[in-house]
Amino acid sequence: MKGAIFFSGKYGSTKQYAEWIAASTGLPMFDIKDSSTNLSKYDFLILGSSVMFYKFTIRQWIKANLEDIIDKPVILFSVSGAGAGPKLDTWLANSLPDRLISRAVHIALRGRMNPKELSWGLRQIMIIGSLLNPDPQSSKEERSGFDYMDKSSIEPILKLVQQFELCEVL
Ligand SMILES: Cc1cc2nc3c(=O)[nH]c(=O)nc-3n(C[C@H](O)[C@H](O)[C@H](O)COP(=O)(O)O)c2cc1C
Repeated sequence: MKGAIFFSGKYGSTKQYAEWIAASTGLPMFDIKDSSTNLSKYDFLILGSSVMFYKFTIRQWIKANLEDIIDKPVILFSVSGAGAGPKLDTWLANSLPDRLISRAVHIALRGRMNPKELSWGLRQIMIIGSLLNPDPQSSKEERSGFDYMDKSSIEPILKLVQQFELCEVL
């Protein structure tokens, strides 16, 4: 089984995870914004998406390519400030079609946010968001940033890739 990684992110953390997965598996990786998509060449897909404002940033691309994706095994990894849990599940359900969610394996990874990298406007939005956020920890993170990048968190993805590749041998 031949696979590939397609990712969507803005500030580099989703790309970093895609690079770690590519280096460990040997699979090719593509940024959805600069690759013309040829999904038919691949038997399984690893789709990586950052989360911004409660939405998966890969959602439009998935919508546009759904018919080429839907019949393949899919590992979907998200990169967000929030960890796995009901909030992230709700954002996933609001971003992607049910028929993909029910077939894909979702792995939640945690990213990084450095307020210095944000535009002035976005920094103001994050400050206002932090003032309105009832959760003290995530309120602080919205204001001051965070770094939860963790290479070992890709392990479940590597295991799944091994299983897919084994299917070819059996
Ligand atoms: C403008 C903005 C909005 C964000 N919105 C969310 C959000 O709704 N939920 C969340 O868990 N993380 C949120 N984050 C955190 C990002 O998911 C995190 O920084 C991620 O690592 C960004 O991925 P990237 O570096 O590939 O762009 C937001 C970050 C920014 C800068």
